[in-house]
Amino acid sequence: MSARPTRRRFLGLGGAAALGLGGAFAASPLIGRLLPPGEPGKLLRSSLPLPARHQAELPIPAVLKPVRSDAGADYYEITARRATARLLPGHDTEVWGYQGTFPGPTVESRSGRRTVITHRSELPRPTAVHLHGGHTPQDSDGYPLDLVGTAGHDMHAMHGGMEGMAGMDAASILPQREYRYPMKQRAATLWYHDHTMGFTGPQVYRGLAGFHLVRDEEEAALGLPHGARELPLMIADRSFAADGSFAYPELDGGRPGVQEPYMNGVLGDVMLVNGAPWPVARVDRAWYRLRLLNAANARRLRLALDPQPSGGGALVQIGSDGGLLERPLRHDSIDLAPAERFDVLVDFSRYPAGTRVRLVNRLGSGPTAEVMCFDVGGDGAADEFRLPERLSAVERLDPAKAVATRTFVFQKDDRHWTINGEGYRPGRALAAPRLGQVEIWRFVTDFHHPVHLHLDPFQVIGRNNGDPGRYDTGWKDTVDVLPAQGVEVAVRFNDYAGRFLMHCHNLEHEDMAMMAEFTTE
Ligand code: C2O
Ligand code: CU
Repeated sequence: MSARPTRRRFLGLGGAAALGLGGAFAASPLIGRLLPPGEPGKLLRSSLPLPARHQAELPIPAVLKPVRSDAGADYYEITARRATARLLPGHDTEVWGYQGTFPGPTVESRSGRRTVITHRSELPRPTAVHLHGGHTPQDSDGYPLDLVGTAGHDMHAMHGGMEGMAGMDAASILPQREYRYPMKQRAATLWYHDHTMGFTGPQVYRGLAGFHLVRDEEEAALGLPHGARELPLMIADRSFAADGSFAYPELDGGRPGVQEPYMNGVLGDVMLVNGAPWPVARVDRAWYRLRLLNAANARRLRLALDPQPSGGGALVQIGSDGGLLERPLRHDSIDLAPAERFDVLVDFSRYPAGTRVRLVNRLGSGPTAEVMCFDVGGDGAADEFRLPERLSAVERLDPAKAVATRTFVFQKDDRHWTINGEGYRPGRALAAPRLGQVEIWRFVTDFHHPVHLHLDPFQVIGRNNGDPGRYDTGWKDTVDVLPAQGVEVAVRFNDYAGRFLMHCHNLEHEDMAMMAEFTTE
């Protein structure tokens, strides 16, 4: 297997490809078109006074019940619709939500047991549903042209304005779709969200996102904190118009994409956790499991607890995008790019009763430097949990066995975001990896791009020819690629032949064409 198609496209980028990654990249001929590093996005200010912090109680999304179950599978039904929500005190916000809620209901699957979800939509626009982190066959993967919607959605009117969106003829729109998930994968924190061609940014922003947790025996045997001590935390920044509606800088005329000043990404000034602004959670002096998800369109987070307990290392990472780590990893702070998940334990008994512990964002400023807080309750809470030294036996992909190395350059051109110089075009594949074989994929960029692969997770093997970063441990499906960096990952796609996506998970970049297909065979 060679990376021939990639190389051919690389003629103009030979400098970057040949010199390697990172620092060398900055010396490449690409330098003339580099963007200034810095925030991956532009702040859109709310037009209403921001609500007071730490007033709302942390909501926990309801767990969805199956409509039926049989020997091998659980069946669910979800309808995406508009609904009115009270996200901010004194204001109504229209959300586009799964079952009308933001976040959508949480789906829980057991590893190895099929989950079948019938999605319907009553939204003004069609939608595609992707299970992020799912090991999913192509026909249920939420391909951006496999749409669910009501009759009367005119796809051509919808995409008429953008030549870059060639291939729309292939769109198929059905009143409902059955997404079949085999769930042949380990326990992990997945999430499902909209993936509509050209409109993922505004549609996720309006609320089309929910948790999908996979559980298995290995994880259950660890006796991790559960029930009221397991908190899924969907963190997302949003901005609001004066009337309380979500503000998003869409283009006129229902065209896909975002207004030019926001091409780097849309940043909001209200931090929502599970849909509530800067909420507060009351906790016992006990271990808690926090499933952290960055569901922002573009904002990167650096999460820390304030105050730190004496001795530091308050955030004990036990899992990454793709499930349990080998052993716990202690952090004082954790960087999360959009779509990344960190499964973290916190021992609140390290704080005296009555402490207010803030979850802060060290990359934010003003209101976005705060996320939520935990009020630590009095004594007397029973806690049997002991942190195990080993969590899981994690298979290592061996880079020495790689049958191909492919390089993907993430860059901006005059009008959109590109991968290897190309904006997304449905049906055109940039790579054709063989199932069951290890490959090395290199993601190179001059800017911030959270790079995400569908179908299977990967392992980061290096950054800028050095070691992986401190947040790269374990199986990942999204990796935070930073300006002037090259990140190398080992990946092996398994089981399902077909057409899958890789893309930047900054949703404005994704909608503005930073997406590509690969085919597995
Ligand atoms: Cu979370 Cu292709 O996306
Ligand atoms: Cu990007």
